[in-house]
Amino acid sequence: MSSIHNDNTGPEQNPNQELPPDPVHVLHRAAMREMQEPRDGIAPTPVSYILLCFAAVLWGGWYIGMYGGTWSADGLAEKALAGGAITAPAQNPMELGKEVYGVCMNCHQDHGKGVPENYPPLAGSEYVLGDKRRLAALVLRGLSGDLTVLGKHYNSQMPAWDNRDDEEIAAVLTYIRNSFGNKADPISKEFVAAVRKETEGKGEWRPATLDAFAASSAPAPAAPSAAPPTAATPQAQPK
Ligand code: HEC
Repeated sequence: MSSIHNDNTGPEQNPNQELPPDPVHVLHRAAMREMQEPRDGIAPTPVSYILLCFAAVLWGGWYIGMYGGTWSADGLAEKALAGGAITAPAQNPMELGKEVYGVCMNCHQDHGKGVPENYPPLAGSEYVLGDKRRLAALVLRGLSGDLTVLGKHYNSQMPAWDNRDDEEIAAVLTYIRNSFGNKADPISKEFVAAVRKETEGKGEWRPATLDAFAASSAPAPAAPSAAPPTAATPQAQPK
């Protein structure tokens, strides 16, 4: 009895108390003695944890290598992921056009119907759907005066948009020709560049001067009748 007593150092142990000779108690005594007490101090990290961390880091590296693209910002562009060349992203003209239209919207409104008496409609407008050269010229250089659109008179001022580049102008023109129920062929930035060059130095149009310009033939390669000295635009002819 006393040997069992000495061996046990468990917290419940009261050395002053004699154990009753209860066999159940004696049985548990053995179990209590052999149970390990929690220990104080630092235990070494299990090797399996260390291996797990290594595996996670390796997998992460592999994943980034496989799917991360390059580390440049371009590497994350959709185009690069799609396998395209990483050059200036050629934006969809309708999307870019919609973006640029944000500035036109103030006057012509998001529905393109304008504001009666003040801002003419783009929806169904003969200026939008008609002669492309006239359209590009008026948007590039601005327009003011008594204008008739869809049988209604307007007499106000349309600012010039020549601070926008050819791609933006081409996109917004393509956009207004294919929105608000309009349907017409797109306008290329080469076309805009040609009209920009042709109208260089021309101030804001009046409806009459715009009509005269529209009536004059474009400086087409095979048009010797119109003899503008500077108008030898070589390549970019409207299709
Ligand atoms: C500050 C208001 C204003 C803004 C912004 C504006 N316009 Fe205009 N726009 C006008 C007015 C006013 C006229 C009519 C001018 C006149 O009465 O002679 C007009 C005329 C036009 C016309 C010819 C008439 C017609 O309705 O078809 C087109 C095309 C046009 N604008 C396109 C644009 C585009 C494209 C933009 C944006 C890049 C734009 N406008 C931005 C006020 C504006």
